[in-house]
Amino acid sequence: MTVALACIQMDHHSFASVLTCLQAELREVAHMHRKPNFRLIEQILTYIGEFLDTYHHPKEDEYLFRLLRQREPGMVDTLNDLRGDHHRGKGMLKDLWLHLADWKRGGPNAAAAFMGSYEAYHAFEREHVRTEERVVLPRATAALTPADWLEVNAAFLKDRDPLFDSQATEHFALLRAEIDRLSPPPYGRGEAA
Ligand SMILES: [Fe+2]
Ligand SMILES: [Fe+2]
Repeated sequence: MTVALACIQMDHHSFASVLTCLQAELREVAHMHRKPNFRLIEQILTYIGEFLDTYHHPKEDEYLFRLLRQREPGMVDTLNDLRGDHHRGKGMLKDLWLHLADWKRGGPNAAAAFMGSYEAYHAFEREHVRTEERVVLPRATAALTPADWLEVNAAFLKDRDPLFDSQATEHFALLRAEIDRLSPPPYGRGEAA
């Protein structure tokens, strides 16, 4: 497996862990009738935005998808749809911030609106990742040349997941503690799935 493929799969795994953290927080709020941890929810939404916009999507759009389009013209429609998903997800995240602001203000039905929107967003992102893993990565493995992989690998190695960069301890402390609490080893102290 190339470095880039391993990085993409690691990205998808850590993204899934973060999405699960927010799902767990919302389920606890809904089922145990406790107050939401708004700081944690804000950290999660901030992280998702930074992770997708500045770290993960540019490497897919500008390197992996671009080169796969050239090598496999039959993949163009799928890749256009996936790039469209990146924009659509950004809009859904923006809506989540609006619902969160309303929830913090105590708006009527705001908690239910946030939870409903998050459920839709979570399902949407899971489906997106599933298509990349089941369709795009196998086709890229078969079609990209060694020179293509050098280019894609270099892109994936140039920076770090914002959850682990030098400012992360401060910015995402609650989120990291929550991942540690919920994720099974080797990522955290939670129970194995
Ligand atoms: Fe993607
Ligand atoms: Fe992805």
